[in-house]
Amino acid sequence: MNRHIAIYPGSFDPFTNGHLDIVRRGLEIFDTIIIAVARNSEKNSLFSIAERIDMISRLIEHDPRLKVETFDGLLVDYAVSKGARVILRGLRAVTDFEFEFQMAQMNHTVCEQVETLFMMTAPECAYLSSSIVKEVGRLNGDISQFVPPLVRDELLKKFGHN
Ligand code: PNS
Repeated sequence: MNRHIAIYPGSFDPFTNGHLDIVRRGLEIFDTIIIAVARNSEKNSLFSIAERIDMISRLIEHDPRLKVETFDGLLVDYAVSKGARVILRGLRAVTDFEFEFQMAQMNHTVCEQVETLFMMTAPECAYLSSSIVKEVGRLNGDISQFVPPLVRDELLKKFGHN
């Protein structure tokens, strides 16, 4: 197994500056980060998987150390198939902890060789979530400080505010 590959999994509906912060800092530690969009997150999502992949691809195209893919089934099986030993997750606040704790324990029980590594979100992103950004965007609030410009444009299009 290659110890320098990390999987950064999530729904990313859509990708925010908080996600970007984790990826940027993760690149200080890992050689390659695979941003893995969970296929099971399509239900009740604003953006289709294809739309999310397209946006993330455009955001990371300048950096060959970053890749974006989708995955089905168990995250740990996907990680092993990619030769990755680490699942990277951002942790914002205490409220994230219970779900993340449960997921990390379960993943480690199912597959011992894969570790979950948490990074504390930057303070300026600590309150950010894809859901809250969608809510503000839907109500025509200014979301430009929360998401990259191309995501902002796609959100505005979705909500018919452009
Ligand atoms: O961005 P999210 O929605 O918090 O990401 C959650 C995600 C996609 C990481 C999680 O739902 C997941 O890993 N799904 C894949 C299925 C799986 O392996 N489930 C067991 C984990 S306990």
